[in-house]
Amino acid sequence: MEKTLVIIKPDGVQRKLIGEIISRFEHKGLKIVGLKMMKVSPKQAETLYAIHKKKQFYQGLLKFITAGTVVTMVVEGIGAVNISRKLLGATFGADAEPGTIRGDFGASISYNLVHASDSPETAQNEIAIFFKETEILSYILDNLKWVYHPSEEEEMSS
Ligand code: CMP
Repeated sequence: MEKTLVIIKPDGVQRKLIGEIISRFEHKGLKIVGLKMMKVSPKQAETLYAIHKKKQFYQGLLKFITAGTVVTMVVEGIGAVNISRKLLGATFGADAEPGTIRGDFGASISYNLVHASDSPETAQNEIAIFFKETEILSYILDNLKWVYHPSEEEEMSS
């Protein structure tokens, strides 16, 4: 089953949007299989944003993600990576469609409330930055039989 990393960034926590943001993922039918509140260390931030190292906004990114408490979570479901990116909306709040998290709550470029991995491969690497294997749970949500059609069951149980 596909997993992705979602981070509620310091602005999301400070703006009391933790519950609202987690609800978006739960209500969509995705499953939270790992969840923690933490401060991102400089080393974790550098690993997370290594791909942006050459960008002019890189130092600002590091400063922002390490500036306050965040919530990290591992979210699971068929197509979890793609669905999560859609739930977030476009990178910058001003461009994001209403109905998405950033579209409903964000207006800034750098303060964009939430992060989600952009591919299954990235997700694996990003999850490993924040979670030990033992911190990711495997459990049954009984309502999944009303989220997925029986024809999708094979993928659900793989
Ligand atoms: P996210 O997709 O979570 O991870 C990379 C981040 O880089 C992105 O969110 C934005 O917050 C930030 N970012 C991308 N482009 C710019 C930009 N042009 N100026 C400032 N920040 C940016």
